[in-house]
Amino acid sequence: MQGLLLVAFICLSSLPAGFSSYRVIAKNEASTPGPRHLLEPIYDVIHTQRGANVTLPCVLRIRSRVYKVKWTKVNPTDALENIILITNGQQRKNYNQLSGRVRLRRGHQNDASLIITDVRLEDEGKYRCQLVNGLEDENLFLSLRLDGVVFPYQARFGRYLFNYFDARQKCEEQDAMLATSLQLYQAWTEGLDWCNAGWLLDGTVQYPIIKTREPCGGNIPPGIRTYGPKDTKKDRYDAFCFTSTLKGHVYFIPAPVSYAEAVLACQKQGAAIAKVGQLYAAWKFLYLDHCDGGWLEDSSVRFPIVNPRDRCGGHPDPGVRSFGFPDKAQRIYGVYCYTQKNRGGEQGV
Ligand SMILES: *[C@@H]1O[C@H](CO)[C@@H](O)[C@H](O)[C@H]1NC(C)=O
Repeated sequence: MQGLLLVAFICLSSLPAGFSSYRVIAKNEASTPGPRHLLEPIYDVIHTQRGANVTLPCVLRIRSRVYKVKWTKVNPTDALENIILITNGQQRKNYNQLSGRVRLRRGHQNDASLIITDVRLEDEGKYRCQLVNGLEDENLFLSLRLDGVVFPYQARFGRYLFNYFDARQKCEEQDAMLATSLQLYQAWTEGLDWCNAGWLLDGTVQYPIIKTREPCGGNIPPGIRTYGPKDTKKDRYDAFCFTSTLKGHVYFIPAPVSYAEAVLACQKQGAAIAKVGQLYAAWKFLYLDHCDGGWLEDSSVRFPIVNPRDRCGGHPDPGVRSFGFPDKAQRIYGVYCYTQKNRGGEQGV
């Protein structure tokens, strides 16, 4: 890796930065007692999956006659206040954020917990429940995390061709979104080792290294190598995409087909040729393991391996293997299809 400006080993404590500083303040009893009017949440990081309904707890300890609760999404790169809803206990007003997918739980009189339905990838992040109570406003911060999988993504024509906006679009086209630093860090702890730098959601460029080697940041401890923030229009890298669980499933059709025939073969069965994110999600969450290369929607050819074995690429670790982007007219590969129906194809899983 030539031109590496900064190599950093990210440690756990530096990650949820905004959140941990809040906790430090809240726990500093001498100057600031904890929230008086809101109950401290039992868990302040809430794990969920795409498509699920999730509750962000916010319960009033003391309810005054006149009060308001305001829910916002806290976006560190966005100066605007992203209001989700405001309630005064009787009525509530919904705003643009998450519109149509939120409601209050109202389990009891003092319950201002927020329910998000049909969770989407972009819902991950930090939320604030703010009690507006005259002079004494109080805030609770909660983090929503989706179970997911991070995958590196490269252009058809080679390495380092995406600016930030291309990278964001490419991930979205593959049923994913640009990964956050935290998601990349978690993927690294789970085994992601990738020696090409990629954009992340915050506009930084990083890559995860487990097996220390010379061209990948040199002989320093394993970790996340980072170039820091880069020029989102001019600088070009690969992408790290994040996706979560699937509603449907992915299956393989073994017939050797060209790319165009592959698209039709899935359509004929009422399915669609699978996207890269869908193959990764099926590998990670549905344990799809198949030793044959198949076309995907972006005209790459890949196959998912859960139980590594010699005759399946010989790589010792589980993963999704890639043949890159072969000539679309070649009839060597099968195809991976995605369907929301439960019935699979000839080799359904
Ligand atoms: C989420 O809640 C809605 C009702 O608001 C319900 O129709 C849907 O089935 C729920 N989804 C899940 C995954 O529980």
